[in-house]
Amino acid sequence: MIYLDYAATSYQKPPQVYRAVYNALVYHSANPGRGGHVLSVRAGDLVYETREKLCHLFHADAPEQFAFFQNTTNALNTAIKGVLSPGDHVVVSSMEHNSVIRPLSELKRRGIIDYTLVAADSLGRILPEDFKRAMRYNTRLVICTHASNVCGNIYDIEAISKLVRRPGTLFLVDAAQSAGHLDIDVSCLDMLAFPGHKGLYGPQGSGGLFVREGILLKTIIEGGTGSQSELLYQPEEMPDRLECGTLNVPAIAGLGAAVDFIMDEGVEALFNHEAMLNQYFEEKIKNIPNVETYGEQNKTGVMAMNIKEMDCIAVSDALNRQYGIAVRSGLHCAPSAHRTLGTIDTGCIRFSFGYFTQKNELDQAAYAISQIVKKGV
Ligand code: ALA
Repeated sequence: MIYLDYAATSYQKPPQVYRAVYNALVYHSANPGRGGHVLSVRAGDLVYETREKLCHLFHADAPEQFAFFQNTTNALNTAIKGVLSPGDHVVVSSMEHNSVIRPLSELKRRGIIDYTLVAADSLGRILPEDFKRAMRYNTRLVICTHASNVCGNIYDIEAISKLVRRPGTLFLVDAAQSAGHLDIDVSCLDMLAFPGHKGLYGPQGSGGLFVREGILLKTIIEGGTGSQSELLYQPEEMPDRLECGTLNVPAIAGLGAAVDFIMDEGVEALFNHEAMLNQYFEEKIKNIPNVETYGEQNKTGVMAMNIKEMDCIAVSDALNRQYGIAVRSGLHCAPSAHRTLGTIDTGCIRFSFGYFTQKNELDQAAYAISQIVKKGV
C-alpha cells in the first residue's frame, strides 16, 4: 500500500510513538490527577510532560495554557462556543473545514450569532486585509485555517493577526493541517486548535487547544477535574477549565513522544521535505493530459487534482483497488473550500504527503494517474 492520505491522518508513526503508547498502557494506565498513589502521580507527570513539550513547540509561556482534546473538531467547538454570546459577529475564511463552518452555522440558525465568510479567489488565496474589511463593531471572533485541508494553501496568520486583533476581538487559528508542518508561534493569536494525529505524528484521539492567558471560556462540558472538587462549578484555571473526565493518557503519552520527534527533525526540515515532494509530484503530473490541479504554489504537502470528465470517487477507488494507492477524494468535509475552488459539484482527488513518503511512491502514483487517463477506471 502506498499511503498518500496524510492530511486525513498520518498512518505510519515514528517508532518512539508506538513505544510511548505501549508503555503508557502497560505502566502508566492509572488516572492522572485523581490520586496520591505512585501510579496516578506517574500518569500525571506524563500528561504534564506532553503539555510542556507542546508549550515549547508552539513558543507559549505556560504549559497550563494547553488543554487536551480528542481531536481538532472538539477543540474548535470548545473555542467557538466558549467565546461567542448572543449578538456576536464572526469573520471566517471561505476555506474552512466543517468543524468551523458547522458550529457557526448552527449558532447562526439558532439566531445567536451572525458570521461573514471572507471569500478566497479561485486559487484559494485571501488577502489579510479582506478579514479586516469584513469586521463589524460586534465582531467577537476571527477564525482562519492555517493551511487548507483541500488544496494545502498556507494563510499568513501573522499578517491577519496584526490586522484583526483588537480589544474584544479574538483570533482563533485552526492548525489541523499546519501543526508539525509549519512553525507556529502562539504569540500572534488568541486560541489555536490542533490535532495530535496528523502532522505531529501522534496517535488518533490526541489533540489540543491553546488558550491565551486571560481568556475565560464558557464551558460546554463540565465534570470532575480532580481539583477544587468542593466547588459546584467548573474551576476557572486552565487546563482544568476545559479538561474533565479521565484523560486519554496513552494518546497523550504518544503525542509527547511525537513532539520529541518533531523537535528532533525540525519543523522546517519536515516542511521542506513535503514541499520537495509536492514540487516533484506536480512536475510528474502536470503534463498528463486532462489533469487539473487546484490551489497555489506555496502549500503544505497536499496536491488536489481531478481528471477532466472523470468522477473523483471512481478514480480514487481505481487507485486503491488497481494500484494500492490510498488517497481521499470527494468534498473533504470542506464544502465551502470546494465552492471557492470551483469544485463543489465534482469534488477532487487529494494526494497528501508526509515524512515517510518517498519519491518512488510518487512515481508510481503519477504512473497510475497516467494509466487511468489512458485506459479509464
Ligand atoms: N479533516 C481531515 C481531512 O481533511 C479528516 O481529511
